[in-house]
Amino acid sequence: MNKKVSVSAPGKLMLLGEHAVVYNRLCLVTAVDKRLYTTVEIIDKSEFQLEAKDVGISEYKKPMSRLGKGSIFKAAQFVEIAIANSVSHPPEFISGSTQILKQVQNDSLGIRVTTKSEFSAKLGFGSSSAVTACIIKAISQLFHLKLSKKEIFDLAYKTVLDIQGDGSGFDVASAVYGGTIYFVTGGKVIEYLNAASLPLVVGYSGIKADTVRIINKVKKDFANRQSCLDEIYNSIEILVNQGKEALIKMDWQSFGKLMNKNQEYLKGLGVSIEKLDNMIKAALDAGAYGAKLSGAGGGDCMIALVSNENKEEVKEAIQNVGREVFDIKTNAEGIRIE
Ligand code: MEV
Repeated sequence: MNKKVSVSAPGKLMLLGEHAVVYNRLCLVTAVDKRLYTTVEIIDKSEFQLEAKDVGISEYKKPMSRLGKGSIFKAAQFVEIAIANSVSHPPEFISGSTQILKQVQNDSLGIRVTTKSEFSAKLGFGSSSAVTACIIKAISQLFHLKLSKKEIFDLAYKTVLDIQGDGSGFDVASAVYGGTIYFVTGGKVIEYLNAASLPLVVGYSGIKADTVRIINKVKKDFANRQSCLDEIYNSIEILVNQGKEALIKMDWQSFGKLMNKNQEYLKGLGVSIEKLDNMIKAALDAGAYGAKLSGAGGGDCMIALVSNENKEEVKEAIQNVGREVFDIKTNAEGIRIE
C-alpha cells in the first residue's frame, strides 16, 4: 500500500465572465503553467500535520479528532476542511472506503501534508482552490476511493463553499480539469475548449483582493438596482459566448475587443480600481489587442492579449505603472499525480 502521494494542480486566470458566473452565467477560464504541489502522507499517529512555508505555516498540528473543528488557522483552512470533508463526510465515498481509511476515521492513523507553490498566494491565481483539489485527489489515491474528476470537483467546491460561503467554483474546475474551459456556476457545464494557448501577459497590481468582500460589495451597491445588475450579467454572458467562438478561431483581434468590453462592464460593477485601470490603459496604449482585470477586481492581476511584435513593449508599459509583470502559458494540465 502507498502511504504517501504527491499531487499538483495549476493556477488559473479568468479570461471572461467573472462576477456574472457567480449568478448562473458562463465564463471562460484557463489553467496556467504555474503549479501548486502537495504531498499527503498517512502517519502512525492520529494527528493532522501541515507544513506550508509559502503561506507562513510551519509544523501546524492538531489531533485528527479535532479536524475541521474549533478555531482553524486561516491559511490552513482549505487543507483541513478538504481532508475533513473527504475522510469523514459524504457516506457515498465512505462506502467505497478501505481498511486504512477506517483507521483514519477511527483516530488510529493521521495525515501529514506538505505544500509548495510556484506562484504566490497573493496573485489571485487560485492557490486555495488548487490546494483543495490536490488534497482531495491525494486522499482519493491513498484510500483507493477512485473519485472521478467530477466527484473531486464536487467535493472541492463543497469545501470552498463551506469556508467562503460564496463563489462559482470556476477556479476549482480549472485546477481539476486544466486546459481552457467554458464553465457555468457550480459545474453545471464544464466544457473543454479546443483552444490554442493564448498570448497573454499578466500584470500584478501589488494589492491583495478579497473575493468575498468584493462580491458582497457588488450585492450591496446594487441592492436597489437588481434589474440593472441582471442586465450587466446578461451582457457579460453574451460576450463570453462570442469569446468562445473567437478563442476557437484564434481570432485575437476579436477576443481582445471582447476583453475590453468585459472590462467596461466590470467598471460598471465598480470592481476595478485606479491601479488596474492604469495598467490596462498602459497595455492598450502599447498596442495590446485587449486588456482587463482577471478575477474579483479590487487588486490582484490584469491580463493583456498581445502579439509577438508588441509583447515586450506591452510588458514594459505595464511594469511602469504596476508592481510586477510576467509571462505565462495557458491551457496547462489539470490536477495530476507527480
Ligand atoms: C473571482 O476570482 C471571480 C468571481 O467571479 C468569483 C467566483 O466566480 O467565484 C468574482
